[in-house]
Amino acid sequence: MIARDISSEIRLRAEEKDAVILAHNYQVAGVQDVADIVGDSLELARAAAGRREEIIVFCGVDFMAETAAILSPEKTVLLPAPDAHCPMAGMITGGEVKTLRERFPDAAVVAYVNTTAEVKAESDICCTSANALKVVESLEADQVIMLPDRNLAGYVARFTEKEILPWQGFCYVHDMMTIADVSRARLNHPGAELLVHPECRPGVIDLADYIHSTSGMIRHICASDKREFIIGTEPGIIHQIEKRCPGKRVYPLSEKAVCINMKKTSLEKVLQSLENLTPRMVVPEEIAARARVAIERMLQI
Ligand code: 13P
Ligand code: SF4
Repeated sequence: MIARDISSEIRLRAEEKDAVILAHNYQVAGVQDVADIVGDSLELARAAAGRREEIIVFCGVDFMAETAAILSPEKTVLLPAPDAHCPMAGMITGGEVKTLRERFPDAAVVAYVNTTAEVKAESDICCTSANALKVVESLEADQVIMLPDRNLAGYVARFTEKEILPWQGFCYVHDMMTIADVSRARLNHPGAELLVHPECRPGVIDLADYIHSTSGMIRHICASDKREFIIGTEPGIIHQIEKRCPGKRVYPLSEKAVCINMKKTSLEKVLQSLENLTPRMVVPEEIAARARVAIERMLQI
C-alpha cells in the first residue's frame, strides 16, 4: 500500500469512528499530514480537552496521551505507538516530588507537562514551554519548584523575581545542542535568525535571537519578514514550517538532535490503532483526579 492510500484509509476510518487525530510538531511528515490538528504540547492539551469526538488518536509520546486521558476520562484515547516514551518524563517520580514538598513546604510545585500522571498528581499546577513564565507568575508563592527540566527552569528564572528551585532533569534532544553548533550554524547561514526551544542549555539560549515553544517558532517564522532561520529544536518541525510558512528557509541547529520516540508513530500504526481501537491509554481515576486539578489549573491561565 502506498502512503497516499494509507492516509485516505486513515481519514475514512477516523470519520466512520468519530475520531480526531492529534499530532505533535515533531511527528514524521505523513503523520502530520493526516492529522486534524498539529501543534505544540499546550495546543494539543487544549484540543484534547475541547474536541467533541469520542475517540482521540494521539500521535506523540506517552505523557501527551496520558494528559488527554486525564482531561477526558469518558473518551477513548489511543496511543498508536505505546512504546513512545519521553525519557525526561521518567527523570522524576511522584515519591521524589513528595520528598521535595517536605523539604520546601512553602514552595509551589510546577510540573512540566512532560511528566507522568503520578508526578502531576503530586504537583500544584502544570506548565508547557509556551506558558511556563505565565504559570509561575500566576502563583502566590515566592518560592517555586520547577520540574523536571533544569533548562526550562533556568530560562524562567531569568524573567521572574521568584526563587526558582530546579530539578536536574533534561531533554536529551535539546540538551545535546551546543555553543559550537551555534557558531557553525551562524557561519554557514549568516543573516539567518536563530530560534531555540527553552529546553536548550543556558549557553545556547544566551546566543539565540528568540526563544519559543515549537508552535511559537512556527508563528514567529510565518509572521517575520526575514527569510532564513536556524531552529534549535527537533527537525520534525521543519515540515510544518514549510507547509505553513511557504518561501521561508529553515536549517536545523543540529542534524543529530532527533527524538527517536517522536518518530515511533507511523501511518501503519495509526491505521491499525483506529481499526482495533488499541493501544488505549487509561489512567487510574485516583491518580487522574489529582493530576486533572494541576492540568486544568494551567488551562485556565
Ligand atoms: P512544545 O511542542 O510544547 O514546545 O514541546 C516540545 C517537546 O519537547 C515536547 O516533547
Ligand atoms: Fe521528550 Fe525531548 Fe522527545 Fe520532547 S523532544 S518527547 S522532551 S525527549
